[in-house]
Amino acid sequence: MNAKRPATTAAQADPCCFVIFGASGDLAHRLLVPALYNLAARGLLPEAFAIIGVARGEKSEESFRADLENGLRRFALGAIDSEIVRRLLGSVGYVAGGADDPATYSKLGEALKRIEHARETRGNRLFYLATPPSAFAPIGRRLGETGLAREENGAWRRLIIEKPFGTDLASAQALNRELLELLQERQIYRIDHYLGKETVQNIMVLRFANGLFEPIWNRHHIDHVQITVAESLTVGSRARFYDETGALRDMVPNHLFQLLSLVAMEPPSRFEAHAVRLEKAQALDAIHLPNDGTALNDSVRAQYVAARVGDNEIEDYRKTKDVRPDSTTETYVALKLMIDNWRWAGVPFYLRTGKALKSRRTEVAIEFKQAPFAMFRDTPVDRLAQNFLVMSIQPNECIGLQFNAKVPGPAIAISGVHMTFKYQDYFDAAPSSGYETLIYDCMIGDAILFQRADGIEAGWRAVQPFLDAWRNAGPRGLAVYKAGSEGPAEADQLLARDGRRWRSIA
Ligand SMILES: NC(=O)c1ccc[n+]([C@@H]2O[C@H](COP(=O)([O-])OP(=O)(O)OC[C@H]3O[C@@H](n4cnc5c(N)ncnc54)[C@H](OP(=O)(O)O)[C@@H]3O)[C@@H](O)[C@H]2O)c1
Repeated sequence: MNAKRPATTAAQADPCCFVIFGASGDLAHRLLVPALYNLAARGLLPEAFAIIGVARGEKSEESFRADLENGLRRFALGAIDSEIVRRLLGSVGYVAGGADDPATYSKLGEALKRIEHARETRGNRLFYLATPPSAFAPIGRRLGETGLAREENGAWRRLIIEKPFGTDLASAQALNRELLELLQERQIYRIDHYLGKETVQNIMVLRFANGLFEPIWNRHHIDHVQITVAESLTVGSRARFYDETGALRDMVPNHLFQLLSLVAMEPPSRFEAHAVRLEKAQALDAIHLPNDGTALNDSVRAQYVAARVGDNEIEDYRKTKDVRPDSTTETYVALKLMIDNWRWAGVPFYLRTGKALKSRRTEVAIEFKQAPFAMFRDTPVDRLAQNFLVMSIQPNECIGLQFNAKVPGPAIAISGVHMTFKYQDYFDAAPSSGYETLIYDCMIGDAILFQRADGIEAGWRAVQPFLDAWRNAGPRGLAVYKAGSEGPAEADQLLARDGRRWRSIA
């Protein structure tokens, strides 16, 4: 094999102040600061850069800096260079205050003025909302009202908002409305860290930079699509949040729909934010909205029950601390979705995601139609292995093709074989969580990998019929699966009814 190719290089981002709301939280320490470190180590952060933390607890700037450094040393993906840490955390500010307290914003305004002057960050501000979702609208409103997010004198002011963006269609629409009353859409960067992953971005490159796939990327050649995000972890310490949320809300309108829209979208007219996001939103908008009966028929929701997995005894989901004993919250969901347009009419998209499953695996698998007939004696067409194109995102970033080949020997015998491209074999990429790409893109004003209001709302519109049908059905239809298994039998039946089956996640 040839020598590995290095990752591409890019220009340094604009000078700016990086303001983290929720600066004492898990996301800030585990993902944001390590991502900033990685950007600094690759020379992508500007010299003129400062971090300001906002959270409710009182804290000195010195102890905030020490917290960030401890978090960085604990969660960094590789070795840490003390000189880079010194530069990254060289200019740090801290503001104590609640999201809806006007005093927070006057203190923040003063801190910004002082640090912007000292660091010459030219007034560019990136506000990262790493708080509970209930604080998103109040923070957006206060930043708008106080003018802290007003763009003036050539300075940019941008907000990154974490998921979950709403809990249903109505709340997502309300949050969009509130934010857009005081801010421009172009200032709002709704993040889904899946889009920072190389393999996810590569779906677009695979489709639109090759002449090979697009001509067969349609109902004439594709039998169905399977999208899987399987987690082996249980709900663990997130039980309180999870029991209010469930697998559908937590994963489908964001992560699974990002994958679905990249597979299903039409080619955008240009590779820029407006055109790409328009096509993605239109793909989601074309998802067929089922009535109550069809929604129940085309979905499976289930909870895991106790089992021994390896050396661990996993308890029933309902016995987990902070989970209601009669909870009907699903820890697994499988959906059959149809997309009502010329490209995809008649091609089911099967989605599944769950916790406490046999293994951790994220993949998009495209199954192509069978050969129309098999001319080979003793090998009827229904015994040929299916042709799959598999884009694997976790645990390995790779793309695989499964096709049929002749078994060596005098007789014609046919067997399914695999051809796999692994990222790590070709490219030398530094370890990354995906947040690096997204934070950098926001700093340079490239919104391609962020979600726009219409895409968010189209996603919720597509899951709302399932949420409504489940609410109306109460506990009826809630299935169970053993922890450490591949999911409930009902999910297998969902595909078996159509004469298909899931790929194994083992
Ligand atoms: N952690 C992850 O891996 C992850 C991944 C994807 C998305 N997210 C999202 O990121 C956000 C933060 O998650 P997290 O895991 O970091 O949560 P967390 O550990 O609970 O931290 C929340 C932060 O927000 C602050 N906060 C809490 N209530 C607040 C309020 N009413 N007003 C202002 N600040 C408040 C907290 O500090 P004080 O209590 O001192 O104010 C803390 O700094 C959530 O929306 C979550 O869904 C997290």
